[in-house]
Amino acid sequence: MLSDIDLNSVDVKKEFAEETAGWTGYVEWEKYPEKKALAKRILDTKKFTPIPEFQFVPLPDTNPVLIGHRWKEYHEVLGLKGIVDFSWETVQKEKPDMIHLLDFPYNGETRRDQLMEGKITSNKCHFIRNHGGVPDINEDVFEIEVGGLVKNPVKISFKDLKDPSKFPQETVTVTLQCSGTRRIEQIQQYPGDGDELINAPWGEGAMYVDLLVTASDISLLLTLNHIPTSGTAVYRGVALKKVLKIACGGILPECKHLEFIGADTYFKKNNVYNYAVSVPWRKVRHNEEVLLAWEMNGEPLPKIHGYPLRVVVTGYIGARSCKWVYRINALAEPSLGPVQSQEYLYYTPQIGKQNVKYSNGFSIQAMPVSSAIIFPLDKQVIVHDGKVTLKGWAYSGGGNWVQRVEVSNDGGSVWYAVPEENMTQKHYHAWRLWKIDLPTDAEGWLEFCVRTWDSSNNTEPTFVRSAWNWDLHVTSSCHRIKIYSVNRSRPDTAKRLKVLEEHGADVHNLTKPAEFELEDLNEFLEYRRKYPREPED
Ligand code: MTE
Repeated sequence: MLSDIDLNSVDVKKEFAEETAGWTGYVEWEKYPEKKALAKRILDTKKFTPIPEFQFVPLPDTNPVLIGHRWKEYHEVLGLKGIVDFSWETVQKEKPDMIHLLDFPYNGETRRDQLMEGKITSNKCHFIRNHGGVPDINEDVFEIEVGGLVKNPVKISFKDLKDPSKFPQETVTVTLQCSGTRRIEQIQQYPGDGDELINAPWGEGAMYVDLLVTASDISLLLTLNHIPTSGTAVYRGVALKKVLKIACGGILPECKHLEFIGADTYFKKNNVYNYAVSVPWRKVRHNEEVLLAWEMNGEPLPKIHGYPLRVVVTGYIGARSCKWVYRINALAEPSLGPVQSQEYLYYTPQIGKQNVKYSNGFSIQAMPVSSAIIFPLDKQVIVHDGKVTLKGWAYSGGGNWVQRVEVSNDGGSVWYAVPEENMTQKHYHAWRLWKIDLPTDAEGWLEFCVRTWDSSNNTEPTFVRSAWNWDLHVTSSCHRIKIYSVNRSRPDTAKRLKVLEEHGADVHNLTKPAEFELEDLNEFLEYRRKYPREPED
């Protein structure tokens, strides 16, 4: 009996061993309810480091920004410390130059300049969102199992899956976007669910490299800017629909959902799982829309992106694109895995700690239209000649493509369309990068914002508040930044800039008081006498 076991005498290394040779960092949980129950009993006896508070206090000035002590401890208690160590080694090898938002489970954001290098994000710079450690699987012994409500359950070796004479291959350009993208805008206005797993304060995954001088800039820039858990890559693989048809002879009529199981270990409320999510069959039957991919931008998948095999679900939230996928189950209902049924839920603004239930949020699948200004930065001082250059990205999920991007220099009353020639090519499943020289006459603090229209005429909510939600997902409202406008084409401004320069002062140091007189006393008196403040009678 499980309850009779002396927990202190459990050999965790043996009980929770990696059961398949060549698959390091993978423990099978879903097939062994007894093993899961034992892990829970052990975890229940332990005290873990509390989850750090970061929503009501400033983010630390460090990179990594947040430390996942608790998840490291979960792994250590079950004898899985090797996974923690391997994950960080992999980060250093594959992702040395990221903004490390959370060191374990690793969450990394692309720097601002790298995000705008081109419509394709390089493998080294693509964002990462992990919920557990990084498994290390040898492709020579890797096989994927497809079962459940299919005509013939099968195991397919990696070699066979990649054989074009067995399965036709597809190449698709896909933007993966985490539904936590731009979350920090919601947090800054109204904090929300801290979650069992840290709800990473994602921004734009981007930073202005010139400003990245010291580690202390990181939190400043993260707080001031915010948008980036999106990245675009060209994936090669085989459509899941083809695998189901060719290898399994099709699905059974009761099959309505496809569940994907990943080899990483997932912890929630002292329960252990393998990462599990699902998508409806309706999505899968659109040929190229759900891929089993082994190649990213012409290279084998990096380990941290799911090597040897991952799912790529086009147009859906990134969470459904299961990495290290090794089993696919055809189901009558959506997956009961916590990532599918308890997280990535969308609530109304009146749902919160006092009344939240899994059943009063709906599962987020297709991503809505959204966009972001990557340059300039929020609160940046900009000296210009009547036009300010804005750059950013625009994306829509669900197979809708970006049709028009509009920017406003007055907070959203007057909009200017980005010229078509200033946008990257259209794709069904990927973003467009854009650029515009926005006419800007006014000076001082201005609020710029962007909104995008997709091919179905959807656009973005006007304010964060309009779509705030307890789990802080899908920040798709118009992205707003404040800039301080200095228009050099105005003679008085040009004159002042010259004076500042002569005094070795810089208008970019906006709040630093000038150490010299701003106006000649005689000129001042002449003006005051001509236009006295008080009425004459
Ligand atoms: N698959 C597994 N097995 N484990 C994970 O933690 N994270 C998901 C998804 N697939 C995850 C996963 C989430 S939330 C996102 S946004 C994407 O992977 C991110 O993909 P990337 O890390 O390759 O950019």
